[in-house]
Amino acid sequence: METQNRKADHLRICLDEDVQCRQITNGFEHYRFTHCCLPELNRDQIQLETTFLGKQLGAPILISSMTGGTDLAKTINTRLAIVAQHYKLAMGVGSQRVAVENPAVAATFAVRSLAPDIPLFANLGAVQLNYRYGLEECLQAVDLLEADALILHLNPLQECVQTKGDTNFEGLLDKISMLCDKLPVPVIAKEVGNGISASMAEKLIAAGVTAIDVAGAGGTSWALVESQRAQDTRQRRLGRTFADWGLPTADCLIAVRAVLPGVPLIASGGLRDGLEVAKAIALGADIAGMALPFLQAANDSEETLHELVEILMAEITTVLFCTGSPNLSALRAPGVLQRIDGDRR
Ligand SMILES: Cc1cc2nc3c(=O)[nH]c(=O)nc-3n(C[C@H](O)[C@H](O)[C@H](O)COP(=O)(O)O)c2cc1C
Repeated sequence: METQNRKADHLRICLDEDVQCRQITNGFEHYRFTHCCLPELNRDQIQLETTFLGKQLGAPILISSMTGGTDLAKTINTRLAIVAQHYKLAMGVGSQRVAVENPAVAATFAVRSLAPDIPLFANLGAVQLNYRYGLEECLQAVDLLEADALILHLNPLQECVQTKGDTNFEGLLDKISMLCDKLPVPVIAKEVGNGISASMAEKLIAAGVTAIDVAGAGGTSWALVESQRAQDTRQRRLGRTFADWGLPTADCLIAVRAVLPGVPLIASGGLRDGLEVAKAIALGADIAGMALPFLQAANDSEETLHELVEILMAEITTVLFCTGSPNLSALRAPGVLQRIDGDRR
């Protein structure tokens, strides 16, 4: 029940309060595309299709892991899954710990029948491997979703600010490694908005993780979300102090891509429009994830979600057209994206 209440609080706080980072940005504002005045392309023939972990996508977009476990979460997951299937987007669900603890709420996650063709990602906190979770619970999460991969989220700051958070992260890399060995689907390591550095990404990949979602800073601040939930003044203050903690998304993305050129890579954390998605692709991401914008749209209606995805796709298409890029990989050609305050690429 405690986990279920926490999930309900997270939805309410993310929808009703301003929980965006205050000062730190996602870093994409330092980059600008080079405009092409004569694209020599037909806009209607521009291709947004790509593949991720062997599955075809209609656009390089991931609906980031968010929710499950409550009635509202079920409505949101249902709408997200229908729209993800329609446009062939990848989708994650929120931490399934609540369903492992209480199988009665499993149905709030079970969206595979609505989204038979898309990459669907299960989700658990990596730290739970230190709190009696193992292969069995991970398999349960994967099976419930008929998932293509398991996302293990890494959230040390969130656990610090959360009242009674799980803060024993000792020995986790070895446990992640053992899990990667035994799990029949790939494991994706993801932060929750504080970023994954290049050296940590290298360690995670060496441990057997297949893909990285940098989930950097600049968007939803989980320190602020947990600060809003906290009952005691110490935890509230802790969350406010660390509201802007972390590695900006663009910085993580560039650093991880530089050391791991072939690894499937997701950029997320504070992306808010298709122009930023295109910048993420140009900087080396395979796909780009967004959480809060999809939550707000899904909470409104399925129609609002359609509108969001169509505008995102129109924005990405416009970037491709106005840079003379026929497809996503052309965005990575030299000179298409420039750093505007000194070239650090
Ligand atoms: C309501 C809500 C619940 C979330 N729950 C989870 C979760 O259970 N597991 C997880 O890995 N990330 C979770 N996240 C984090 C997001 O996946 C994402 O990493 C983070 O919000 C930053 O992205 P954004 O700036 O686009 O919101 C959640 C985000 C939101 C908004």
